[in-house]
Amino acid sequence: MMRIVMVGAGYVGLVSGACFSEIGLDVTCVDSDKDKIDMLLDGALPIYEPGLDRLVSDNVAAGRLHFTSDLTSAVKGAKVIFIAVGTPSRRGDGHADLSYVYAAAEDIAKSADVGSIIVTKSTVPVGTGSQIKKRISVIRNDELEVAANPEFLREGSAINDFMHPDRVIIGVESSRAEDIMNDVYSSLSLNRTPVIITSLETAEMIKYASNTFLATKITFINEFSDLCEKTGADINDVALGIGLDGRIGSKFLNAGPGYGGSCFPKDTRALVQTARDYQSPITLVEQVISINEQRKLDMVTKIIESFGGSVFGKEIAILGLTFKPNTDDVRDAPSLVIVPKLIKAGASIRVYDPKGMAEAHMFIDDVSWSDDPYSAIKGADGVVILTEWGEFKSLDLDKIKELLKSPLIIDLRNMFSPDDIIKKGFDYVSIGRKPVYGSSN
Ligand code: UGA
Repeated sequence: MMRIVMVGAGYVGLVSGACFSEIGLDVTCVDSDKDKIDMLLDGALPIYEPGLDRLVSDNVAAGRLHFTSDLTSAVKGAKVIFIAVGTPSRRGDGHADLSYVYAAAEDIAKSADVGSIIVTKSTVPVGTGSQIKKRISVIRNDELEVAANPEFLREGSAINDFMHPDRVIIGVESSRAEDIMNDVYSSLSLNRTPVIITSLETAEMIKYASNTFLATKITFINEFSDLCEKTGADINDVALGIGLDGRIGSKFLNAGPGYGGSCFPKDTRALVQTARDYQSPITLVEQVISINEQRKLDMVTKIIESFGGSVFGKEIAILGLTFKPNTDDVRDAPSLVIVPKLIKAGASIRVYDPKGMAEAHMFIDDVSWSDDPYSAIKGADGVVILTEWGEFKSLDLDKIKELLKSPLIIDLRNMFSPDDIIKKGFDYVSIGRKPVYGSSN
């Protein structure tokens, strides 16, 4: 059984480590955060991701998945050592902060076996692999190869994304490294997953090009949704109509309150900085970033207008705080901008999120936290949906109507059909579609 190490037991490291063990590799996840490792050793998970608890416990039980904070002994005997530590935005300029990546690479270089390969799985700007090589060469003389293997999994559907990827990208500098990396992914390639072999720089660039393209696609549909609202067109049908063109594709055309999360905001910013450094600015992505920032503020205006021009003294129920459903992650979520602005405008806010409240507690103050959607809604002047959690789709609308002081639903994720909801007697404001007023019927 090939032994591999995953340095960094964050989202990407933990999910990919668990998945690699599931496909038959012997995996040790290393993290310098001892509390996190203790938690994992106790059978608990530091993040919420559907299916991850079972995947981890099954593979720990099978003896293929291990956790430790001792990097030096973990890398002994490992053929492939992945770096999956964070690359947050550097404060001030938006560059990716590579200090954790370089620190991990140097620690690995001090103890890795001769002939092992260091592979970046973290999202790293183009040129990072070659920087890592330079830093390693200061520590040891023998060839320790570097490869780049960016990860494309999404939070909330991470396991399925890892197990059934659209493609695997591997940046290498030798056929030996290519063979070893092909071995790592051999079980996945049995499912006919395309494996694309490139240079280090190309692999690094593909990751940023993917994320910035997707952020641009979302921003494109978001801007069109504004124009739809003004002209009477329906953004959902526009998305359907353009998405069926195979060249455009129907995915990632859901208009909403702006993209968030731990990747798109940080990666678009980092790409812009890299491009500027090379005097080859990508102004399209610069524009995407500023449109997306403005969009969150525009959502505040939209909500205030839906309340007749002021939310002063209004009780508003907010459903959903996470940046997307099926995660507890609130990083760069639109809620973190929208909720404080509504409070500033004089509203009282009650919030409910199925998984994100503990995290949101760290960023949001002065709201009342509800244990379920109905208690958030009870007696409120209106409800705002910020995240499209599946459970909101099956809410009892008649009960909501009874509980609300006035029957207003502001749905920033287009979860409902205006025709259905108007029949229930609600006023309904959504994205890229004309508001409908059912309460006057
Ligand atoms: C994203 C990419 O989709 C993954 O391929 C990538 O591996 C990951 O970043 C990463 O670099 O680690 P993730 O941030 O988990 O994954 O979530 P997405 O599903 O991409 O959603 C990002 C944001 O875009 C969310 O706020 C979501 O609500 C928003 N979004 C997405 C829309 O507003 N509309 C859409 O149609 C799709």
